[in-house]
Amino acid sequence: MVKKYKVAIIGATGMVGQRFLTLLDGHPWFEPVALLASARSAGKKYPEAVGDKWAMSVPIPAYAKSITVLDAEKDAEKLVGKVDFVFCAVNMKKEEIKALEERYAKLEIPVVSNNSAHRSTPDVPMIIPEINAEHLEVIAAQRKRLGTKRGFIAVKSNCSLQSYVPLLHPLKRFGLKRVAVCTYQAISGAGKTFATMPEITDNIIPFIGGEEEKSEQEPLKIWGTVGNGAIVPATSPAITAQCLRVPVTDGHTAAVFVSFEQKPTEEEILSAWKHFAGEPQALSLPSAPKQFLHYMAEENRPQPKLDRNTENGMAVCAGRLRKDNLFDYKFIGFSHNTLRGAAGGAVLLAELLAAKGYFD
Ligand SMILES: NC(=O)c1ccc[n+]([C@@H]2O[C@H](COP(=O)([O-])OP(=O)(O)OC[C@H]3O[C@@H](n4cnc5c(N)ncnc54)[C@H](OP(=O)(O)O)[C@@H]3O)[C@@H](O)[C@H]2O)c1
Repeated sequence: MVKKYKVAIIGATGMVGQRFLTLLDGHPWFEPVALLASARSAGKKYPEAVGDKWAMSVPIPAYAKSITVLDAEKDAEKLVGKVDFVFCAVNMKKEEIKALEERYAKLEIPVVSNNSAHRSTPDVPMIIPEINAEHLEVIAAQRKRLGTKRGFIAVKSNCSLQSYVPLLHPLKRFGLKRVAVCTYQAISGAGKTFATMPEITDNIIPFIGGEEEKSEQEPLKIWGTVGNGAIVPATSPAITAQCLRVPVTDGHTAAVFVSFEQKPTEEEILSAWKHFAGEPQALSLPSAPKQFLHYMAEENRPQPKLDRNTENGMAVCAGRLRKDNLFDYKFIGFSHNTLRGAAGGAVLLAELLAAKGYFD
């Protein structure tokens, strides 16, 4: 790719925004030129705006130090003609986020979003690039609805399901019938660290607002089909989920139980995982893991501490595949929630959009 696309990050001071900042430092295709957040941060240089909320293990990238943060709501027009698209990860009310993202799209600035606000909008594609790249087709219908030529919104899915949907996907050929999943989710998924969430130390919180509904419903949109300018969700498998917040910094774990129409052998499951690859691998996108799904044979893996950075946090790990008494099989899934599950997944989606000409 010859052209370098200019990008802005909306929500740049947040947990996901900080990941965007570090992932885009030296990115071969994308150059961050503007950073936006709330009115609280606007007008300040980025290091002052983010202050002690900076939670990455590396320092603030040099390019960001001299950038003055803009107000995402008031300064949208300032980006027109200056950026090719924006990444968006903000903590606002759903209706406010919907309006904000549509506003940017209508200014002909494509939006690649981490927010959940538009995930159920039928003509907004919700993409895990290895799984449903073909859903990008629906953007044509969305542009028609919005009255735009370039502007559109594309979203990535919730972080919880990144730890099990990619592992179930290659098994669809055996007819996924029923899935039960329990997720053990890191505190960075709530935009928190141990310093800002002291109540999680020595504890588990058995409720994450809205997470179980997303974990059960979003996979069906991802496995849906494009028809009449909308994504028509799949009607199976039946999925039930429980989501718990656990004292882990980064990385969501999932305990998964699954039944099939035609029960595969363990070897067939392992082979399906080993040989699975999608468009990011075929197109050699810069952030694509070489091997998307990693099976770990040791019985005490995957673990957040040991495995969160597998393939720069962009791979999905699995372990402990075995037969089950009530379902056919059970296994453990794992993925990095702010990398594959949030900013990294969005950067990979943007790379897919760029490779397919959606930003031109
Ligand atoms: N953390 C994860 O693993 C994860 C995974 C997937 C999706 N997400 C989603 O990503 C989004 C951001 O999550 P996060 O964890 O990064 O949240 P966060 O750490 O709380 O950051 C929120 C960001 O939103 C900005 N913001 C708040 N109100 C705003 C307003 N009125 N106008 C413009 N910007 C505003 C904040 O700016 P100020 O600093 O100026 O207040 C900050 O930059 C959420 O929708 C979340 O559901 C998060």
